Amino acid sequence: MICFAHRGASGHAPENTLLAVKTALSMGAAWIELDVFAVENELVVIHDSRLERTTNGSGEVTNATLAYLRSLDAGRGEKIPFLREVLDTVAGEAGINIELKGADTATLTASMIESYIAKDLFRADQFLVSSFNRRELQNFSLLAPSIRTGVNLSGPPLQDARFAEALAVYSLHVHKNSVTRAFVEDAHRRGFKVFVFTINHAEDLASMISIGVDGIFTNYPELYAKNQ
Ligand code: G3P
Ligand code: MG
Repeated sequence: MICFAHRGASGHAPENTLLAVKTALSMGAAWIELDVFAVENELVVIHDSRLERTTNGSGEVTNATLAYLRSLDAGRGEKIPFLREVLDTVAGEAGINIELKGADTATLTASMIESYIAKDLFRADQFLVSSFNRRELQNFSLLAPSIRTGVNLSGPPLQDARFAEALAVYSLHVHKNSVTRAFVEDAHRRGFKVFVFTINHAEDLASMISIGVDGIFTNYPELYAKNQ
């Protein structure tokens, strides 16, 4: 089982900020999940397509200028980080799951990953790129075929894991309410890992362990650490 600190250690620090990333590292998280959008040729780390919930700004992320985005408070005085700032901070101390949220994120993500591997700050197997957007994910795989990818499912699939065979992904990321033991077994037979979001309670963790999932996303990395 592996544990992803979801949006950083977002149960302890404002989500998708450097503080959440540093907190996850200090808690010993082996993997950190973050969401990205592309703005003015930069990857910015934020979950929603709008600014209101997590910052003191307003409007659509992709309609904003970088200068405006960087002027905002993303909680406790933290800025909306650039992905490169996160990668410089983590520097290979944990794996990074980059979730492609926005349009046109695949190209920038592929070249950024390549540059951090070239700089020897990360190994290729310390990256996992995922998305609900299968087109963006496919674009990414064409550009960076050696980097693992995961497909996010927004609901229960009709035919277990069969759909993923055409996607050539490493892992299937499933909501906790959509995952069953049969799905996990089917995914494993087809060679996929199953990672489940978002597991913030001990009873959910126990239930996920009992059906044999390979990993969980949690806002509270200590929940998982206690079970080791
Ligand atoms: O990637 C797993 C999970 O983060 C997907 O949902 O909405 O939290 O990005 P969301
Ligand atoms: Mg996410």
